[in-house]
Amino acid sequence: MPGGTVSIAAGEWQPPAELNTGIPHPARMYDYYLGGKDHFAADREAAEKIIALMPDARLGARINREFLGRAVEFAVGSGVRQFLDIGTGIPAMGSTSEVAHRFAPDARVVYVDNDPIVLSHARALLAHHPAGHTTVLHADLRDPAAILADPGLQQALDLSRPVALMLVAVLHFVRDEEGAAEAVALLRDALAPGSLLILSHGTQDLMAPQTAAETTRIYSGASSPLVLRARAEVEKFFGDFELVDPGLVQLPLWRPQGELHRGWQEAAPAYAGVAVKR
Ligand SMILES: C[S@@+](CC[C@H](N)C(=O)[O-])C[C@H]1O[C@@H](n2cnc3c(N)ncnc32)[C@H](O)[C@@H]1O
Repeated sequence: MPGGTVSIAAGEWQPPAELNTGIPHPARMYDYYLGGKDHFAADREAAEKIIALMPDARLGARINREFLGRAVEFAVGSGVRQFLDIGTGIPAMGSTSEVAHRFAPDARVVYVDNDPIVLSHARALLAHHPAGHTTVLHADLRDPAAILADPGLQQALDLSRPVALMLVAVLHFVRDEEGAAEAVALLRDALAPGSLLILSHGTQDLMAPQTAAETTRIYSGASSPLVLRARAEVEKFFGDFELVDPGLVQLPLWRPQGELHRGWQEAAPAYAGVAVKR
């Protein structure tokens, strides 16, 4: 394949058995918000309930995706050429590999997601965009040791050099009791100085209490429940990494490029930040 490779590692995709289409999955709901085509009735129903509650939910998804793009661009500009993107989502427009390879064709991207549909789409979509090296792992953020030990990751990334660890709109699907803080700490510890942590996270701080409660209730029927966190809890995920300017801010306010979307305040009740390991 000219220009790069796409490898699918760790666990072959097994279509129907694993692909539980009867319950909503965050990856497929997110794809629905983004206007993609990879969702089933249960995903659409749950997503429509969220849209009824937050009419700007689709814009919120876009705003999150745009943050991801700006953060990847920032990482490349800082000299980082390796990306570990956990909670990848269906690699639609503006994905990490697309942005990274636009600015740095030699960048190496490892995608990790626990939803089997992401694997299948990653395989299909990335095969048509073979600019650069992208590896896709079927693994779970709740088992970070397995991610780090995966031969696919070890082959693709050199952990003695800086890596951008991306936890974008994923930690709010991992509960404290499932080891959210411990998982992020283990991943941070595995990274070399100069590495970045790129993170966004939904918060009840920026929502009416009733909206927060109802959003959480709708996601409680999904494959991963939603765990909104307050600012101080989100900030803890960065550990001793140093937040770069402008710090931890509401999503669209992280180094905006151009005008902000009308209605962004309500559409994007989430924090975003990028921090560096010194
Ligand atoms: C809202 S999407 C975010 C996609 C992408 N990071 C972005 O911001 O555009 C959340 C993704 O996290 C994945 N996810 C949720 N819990 C996960 C876990 N424990 N381990 C790995 N991936 C997970 C979902 O399958 C979904 O693809």
